[in-house]
Amino acid sequence: MDNAILLTGAGGQLGRTLSQLLGDGGSGGGRQLVARGRAALDISDLDAVRSCVEDAKPGLIINAAAYNAVDAAEDDVEGAYAVNARGPRNLALASAALGIPLVHVSTDYVFDGRAERPYHEYDLTAPRTIYGASKLAGEQAVRAANPRHFIVRTAWLYHPDGMNFVNTMLGFADRSEVRVVSDQYGSPTFVPHLAQGIVELMSSEAFGTFHLANQGAASWFDLTRAVYEEMGIETPVLPVATADFPRPAERPRYSVLTTIQQPRIELPTWREGVRAFVQAKKR
Ligand SMILES: NC(=O)c1ccc[n+]([C@@H]2O[C@H](COP(=O)([O-])OP(=O)(O)OC[C@H]3O[C@@H](n4cnc5c(N)ncnc54)[C@H](OP(=O)(O)O)[C@@H]3O)[C@@H](O)[C@H]2O)c1
Repeated sequence: MDNAILLTGAGGQLGRTLSQLLGDGGSGGGRQLVARGRAALDISDLDAVRSCVEDAKPGLIINAAAYNAVDAAEDDVEGAYAVNARGPRNLALASAALGIPLVHVSTDYVFDGRAERPYHEYDLTAPRTIYGASKLAGEQAVRAANPRHFIVRTAWLYHPDGMNFVNTMLGFADRSEVRVVSDQYGSPTFVPHLAQGIVELMSSEAFGTFHLANQGAASWFDLTRAVYEEMGIETPVLPVATADFPRPAERPRYSVLTTIQQPRIELPTWREGVRAFVQAKKR
């Protein structure tokens, strides 16, 4: 089984997409996929991680599990760190013990969002939320415990079947108008594009930190307008300021990601991501 891929967090948006892509010999190069959702493997439990890894004897681990509730994390510090920091550390220790690579997924929220240009892999991190700080702690633990790591930072994920911003906006389409924040910019990313990028990356043996996000910059307002346009929805979309939507956790004003890493893996543009999403939604 040492050729198998162990996938954790298999029930989430990215986990489900990778399961489809890598399952049944798919893009996994004929490797068997051992997919474990939260009920089967809690990554915050070191003993559980060790025993799962001993049983599966994988040749590679991909961690798609995370505590993603950005606002809730502000009041649940221990919960956020258990999953986003201790979890990846546990997986890094277990993968290092076998001498196998670990793919771990992180976020644009490790940056402070005050940049005037897209963030690349070597820019300084400075998270401003518990979620961002816990994800950064996870990155650091992975780097410290297993040099054979791919840390993949991504952003603003959406998938046809997930709890995400784009599906929330589609749920608002029957309103008389929709107000959306227009002064926060990021890299909206279609999960299947990210999954393809991860598969490309993991066979490279070029370990390190990578930014994998759909190319270009958009605000939440831009993203909503693009989705409505592609879906043929005519509900008016009105721009509003962040100050009109106060949230418990501060959102980065500008957290667009770019890559200067090698191998240079560039995902399609964010508009292409929206088109692919709409095609999948209409199927
Ligand atoms: N979503 C975004 O916009 C976004 C942006 C930037 C980066 N990312 C990163 O991208 C990755 C994939 O995100 P996603 O959108 O696919 O997340 P998701 O849909 O929220 O999936 C995360 C999965 O992790 C599971 N999980 C939570 N705690 C766990 C634990 N202790 N042990 C095992 N599994 C656990 C969750 O299970 P339950 O549902 O049962 O809790 C869920 O199935 C994450 O690393 C995330 O931080 C996401």
